[in-house]
Order: sequence, then structure tokens, then C-alpha cells
Amino acid sequence: MSSCQTTLHVALPPDSRDRGYPIHIGTDLLNDADLLTSLIGDRPVMVVTNEIVAPLYLDALRRALGRDRPVTELLLPDGEQHKTLDSLATIMTAALRGHHERRSVFVALGGGVVGDMTGFAAACYQRGVDFLQVPTTLLAQVDSSVGGKTGVNHSLGKNMIGAFHQPLGVIIDINTLRSLPQREFAAGMAEVIKYGLIYDAPFFQWIIDAGDSLASRDPEALIYAIERSCAIKADVVSADEREGGVRAILNFGHTFGHAIEHVQGYGNWLHGEAVACGMLIAARISESKGNLETAAVAALEQLLQRFQLPVEAPPDMDVDSFLRAMSLDKKVAHGQIRYVLLSTLGRAVITSDVGRDDIEAAIGR
Ligand SMILES: NC(=O)c1ccc[n+]([C@@H]2O[C@H](COP(=O)([O-])OP(=O)(O)OC[C@H]3O[C@@H](n4cnc5c(N)ncnc54)[C@H](O)[C@@H]3O)[C@@H](O)[C@H]2O)c1
Repeated sequence: MSSCQTTLHVALPPDSRDRGYPIHIGTDLLNDADLLTSLIGDRPVMVVTNEIVAPLYLDALRRALGRDRPVTELLLPDGEQHKTLDSLATIMTAALRGHHERRSVFVALGGGVVGDMTGFAAACYQRGVDFLQVPTTLLAQVDSSVGGKTGVNHSLGKNMIGAFHQPLGVIIDINTLRSLPQREFAAGMAEVIKYGLIYDAPFFQWIIDAGDSLASRDPEALIYAIERSCAIKADVVSADEREGGVRAILNFGHTFGHAIEHVQGYGNWLHGEAVACGMLIAARISESKGNLETAAVAALEQLLQRFQLPVEAPPDMDVDSFLRAMSLDKKVAHGQIRYVLLSTLGRAVITSDVGRDDIEAAIGR
């Protein structure tokens, strides 16, 4: 019996090389053999996961895949530092040793690190095989598993090697969030809040109203938050699959956030924590330009605090360190830093019209 609560369909532009795909969101989906079969039939599978997630969820997935299907399992070491070409080679070797051919399906069971690497491996293996995303962090469920960006890091830059490769489908079992550490959960919430700010003011208000339910990981609230987040990301991405224009609004909070991550050293601040602080800085600048009510900025600050997300820039960062780090960011176009601000609550704009004084006022030093 299917336990799926909701399914979204991601449409892609007609000229896309890929088809659209479904996102299934619900409880107990990892145990749902029928759902898996509906997506991949009896095709051979290579599951890629990591040493943290495997003891928690690999058994359930293994059972749902059934006994008759050829399955290869690969457990990678945990952590962003392993999102490398070396790990990619490990995946390729495991796939070749498992005699996988183009009919096989790669399954990514884990957070964004596992998802990005497995998706990229699927894009490259024998010039492209299908893959399924089974994201197990909130961030991966609302962000990295949707949109088709895959890749690995290089010692000279994060996510510098990759490909666009859309999954066959996404299975989001929200039961997996029960084991997610609080900081990782909050980091995912930062992205959920972002979707409200840039695209859907009523959703932003709903997150405020549902704050306690979300913080206690109430299934119904989570399913709605994830569904709405995925729908917004899918909407933005389907309008702009390869990041020519409107997709850039998804970087709200990220320009300042990346600067924080860069200066603090990757891993000290989680990505979502840096984005939370970056969103507040961008919201304050939007306010100073007359686009956003003071009350909305205050509501955002309170909401971030509700999830124990940082609202102060790191004490050792002044406007110069932000500007230096931001000028190194990928989002710099023709020497000008491109900022994503809000034109009103629920709408984002991209602009280079942000001065040193604006940033100084927003970070308060
Ligand atoms: N492709 C995209 O569009 C996109 C978008 C945003 C982020 N990303 C990438 O995603 C990555 C970050 O993803 P992330 O935040 O999921 O990090 P992650 O994959 O490192 O997961 C965070 C931690 O949680 C553990 N974990 C995963 N699921 C768990 C569970 N259910 N219970 C307990 N622990 C669990 C992981 O093993 C890890 O230690 C980055 O590499 C980033 O570049 C990609």
C-alpha cells in the first residue's frame, strides 16, 4: 500500500534534453516498494550513500528494492571534504565492478553531498544513466535534490566540476528528518524561509505561524513546507533551467552567505547558517532602499532566532572583508557584484546598486 501523501511534478522547458519528473513527499516512503517499482521497474540499481546514513536507512531501502533485483551498495566517507573527483572515481569503479550498464539506475541516499556526487556520477557513467534522489537532510529535500545541478568540488573551488542532470524522480521520506541533528535541520529551514521571502509572502507568514510545529518536526507541517519549497524551486528552475536569469533569485542571502563561509572557513558555519545571516543583511539593505517594511525585517530576524539561526555577522568581519570575499564569488558579472534584494516581501530583484555604506549599515559595523 502506498503511504505517499503528496506528489509534485517538475516540468522542464520544452527544449530541455530531460523530461520532467515527480517529487514524492510523505512518511514511510522508504518502505514503499510499490513507489520504487513505479519509478524504476525491475532495473538494476547502484545505491550510493555514506557511513552516517547507511546504518540509519539503508536496510529499509534494501528491503523496498526487493531480493530479485541486482543491487550494488557503496558507502562513502561522510563530509563535504569527500565531495571530490576521487570519490567520483570510487563510484565509477563500484559501478563497473557491479557490471552496471546503461539500463541501471543510480540511487542517491543521503544529504546534498551524496546527491550532488551521485547525480554527477550518473551524468558521466557510460555517458549518462538515470538516477533517483532519496534526500535525507532538510536542505537536500528542499534544495539540492531539485533543479538538476550535480557536481563535485575542486581544491581550487567549490562545485567547480559538474553537470546538469535531472533525476528520474525524488523520494522524500520525512521520517528521515527525525535523526537529523538540530543544526542541520535549522540550516535547511533557512532555505525554506528563503522561498517565502523571494517568491511567496503568504508562505513566509505561514512559516511564522507554523514555527512551533516545524521546530518540533510535525509531519503535516513538514510535508507542506517541503512541498511548497520544492514547488517554488521547481517553478523558478523550469523557467530557467540553466541559470541564465531568473534562477539567480534563488541566491538570495547567498552572496553575503558565501562571503561568511569563505572567511570563516568552510564547515565552521554551515551553509544554511551563513545564508540565514546573509538573508538578514540583504533584507536590511532592501529595507534601506524603501522596498521592505521594517516590520518584515523584524519578523525575519525573529523567525531566524526561532530556529537558532545566526542573525549577527561574524565578529571578525567588517565591510571590507565582505567586499573582498564577495568579489571572488562566481556570481560576479563583469567585475560587478550582483546582489539579490527584495523589491517587496515575496519578490526578488537582482541589482548591482548596493554601496559600501549600504552594507556597512546592514551589518552594523
Ligand atoms: N545541487 C544543488 O542545487 C545544491 C543546492 C544546495 C546545496 N547543494 C550542496 O549540498 C551540500 C550540502 O548538503 P547537506 O546540507 O545535505 O549536507 P550533507 O550531505 O553533508 O549532510 C549533512 C550531514 O547530515 C548527515 N545526514 C544526512 N542525512 C541524515 C539523517 N537523516 N540523519 C542524520 N544525519 C544525516 C550527513 O551524513 C552529514 O553529516 C553541499 O555540498 C552543497 O554544495 C547543492
